[in-house]
Order: sequence, then structure tokens, then C-alpha cells
Amino acid sequence: MARRRARWLKRQREEEERRKDRDLLKTVEEVFDSFTMGHIYRLESKGVIWELKGVVSAGKEARVYWAKSKNGDDLAVKIYLSATAEFRKSIKKYIIGDPRFENIPSGNFRRLIYEWTRKEYRNLKRLHESGVRVPRPVAYSGNVLVMEFLGENGYRAPLLVEEADNLDEQFMEEILTDLAVQIERIVCKAKLVHADLSEYNIMLWMEKPWIIDVAQAVHHDHPYALEFLERDVGNIVDFFSSYIDGDPADLMAKAIGVQDYLGHLKACLGVEGQDFS
Ligand SMILES: Nc1ncnc2c1ncn2[C@@H]1O[C@H](COP(=O)(O)OP(=O)(O)O)[C@@H](O)[C@H]1O
Ligand SMILES: [Mg+2]
Repeated sequence: MARRRARWLKRQREEEERRKDRDLLKTVEEVFDSFTMGHIYRLESKGVIWELKGVVSAGKEARVYWAKSKNGDDLAVKIYLSATAEFRKSIKKYIIGDPRFENIPSGNFRRLIYEWTRKEYRNLKRLHESGVRVPRPVAYSGNVLVMEFLGENGYRAPLLVEEADNLDEQFMEEILTDLAVQIERIVCKAKLVHADLSEYNIMLWMEKPWIIDVAQAVHHDHPYALEFLERDVGNIVDFFSSYIDGDPADLMAKAIGVQDYLGHLKACLGVEGQDFS
């Protein structure tokens, strides 16, 4: 009797898994090629992804899905769409001098996008290990990157740009103070420059800013590292200047105990020997 019941349970489980696979296919088959499907299945069979749920964001180059892990945790699955010539052009500035990319023949879009996905995973890992508040990286395969989901019940947390108008000045100051610390860790600890930092790549979750979208982040020795750093900090200063009284750069300096915020970061980058702290 017990054995029969065990068999029945096993069949139920198998049927359940098949149903899940069919659902998964239904969600994605129209959108993804067989290579992408292969990578999704690979992550499924490794036990990383249990169920792929709805689309969270459909960008030009990548789609982000809400997914569930085997033990019910929420996951974000970022899938890079097939790399077009336009994609290659747009990332050119970030990959110059990078041997991982230079050896990829110009027609090999798939390898390019796999390398780009791996770069985002590695950057996330490095940032996470340096104590920067980023989604925890979970796994990657091919053009599919799995990370911690920021949000609840499949609803993603808002971006800073979407939420700022609803927040009072004091809270915006708190967020900026926190961001100043995060950016300092990115540059001085992880030795990276985000290179696409703005109110569009910061999410607000659990009352704190989280930094996302890090595929393009570059190492200190990248030829444009200084240019990217100035642009990143400039974007943050510009955005916050319409929400808080006074110069955001002063608040950022105060947050980490230096006189010149950008000057301090540049010193970390090793481009200007001067540090006013
Ligand atoms: N870990 C995550 N949890 C929840 N939503 C996310 C997560 N990462 C990204 N998103 C959502 O997906 C959107 C696109 O992700 P992003 O990494 O910025 O890619 P891109 O801007 O290149 O399309 C974000 O603006 C955000 O709304
Ligand atoms: Mg983005």
C-alpha cells in the first residue's frame, strides 16, 4: 500500500514537472531561440531555476523575468537577446583593450553576448563581495543571468527615477548619503567604475538604494575609466540637485568624510595623486 502510494506520488511529481516545463515553454518559446532555451533548461536541470514567471522588463537588449527557485525564493532572470551589429557598436566603448572580447570574430554575435553576460555576472560578484548593495548573483549560462529579485510577489521594486517625486527631502538626503558610500565602495574597494550609473539603474528596495545593470562596468585601467567616473558622479549630482537643498556633492563628501568627493574617487582610481581627506 505504502509502495503504491509512493509510486503514485512520484508520478504526480513527474507530471507536475512536465506541466511546469510546458508552461515555461509557453512563456518563452515565441521570444527565444533554441540556444537561449537550452541555457534556460540547463539552469533548470541544475536546480537553479524552478519556474519562469512573467516579464518584469522588456528592454532593447535584454529582458528581465521573475522566476522561482526550487525552495520558493524569488529570482530575477536577465536574458540578453541575440546581439545585433547595433549591440556590438553600443558596447564597443566598454570593451576596447579587453582581450576577452578582442579575440571574438566580428560575426560571432553569440560568443560576444555570452562574454557580455559573464562580464555582468563577474562584476556583480565582485561588487557584492566588496559590500556594494547589488542583487546577489546566483548563476549564469550563455546569455542567461540569474540573480536575487528586488521586489515582492513578482512586482519589482521601483527605480529611483520612478519614486523620487513621492519622497520627501530628508529621505532623498538619506538615499544620497547611502549612494555616496556605495559609489565609494565600487571605485575604491571593488576597483570598478559602473559606467552607466544614473537614476535609471538604481532601484529602491527596503528603503535603500540598490545598484543594478553592471555589465558595462570597467576596471580602473580602462582607457575611459576617468571619463566614465566623472559622468557617473555628474549624473547623480545633477539628479539630486533638484530634490535637495544645497550642493549634492557636498553631502556626498560629508557622507564619507572627505572634502572633495570626486577628488577622493579619482585618487582611488589612481589618476590624481591628490586626496583631500
Ligand atoms: N534584480 C532585479 N530584480 C527586480 N527587477 C530587476 C532586477 N534587475 C533588473 N530589474 C528590472 O529590469 C529592468 C532592466 O534591467 P537592467 O539590468 O537595467 O537592464 P537594461 O537597462 O540593460 O535593460 C530594470 O530597470 C528593473 O526594472
Ligand atoms: Mg538599466
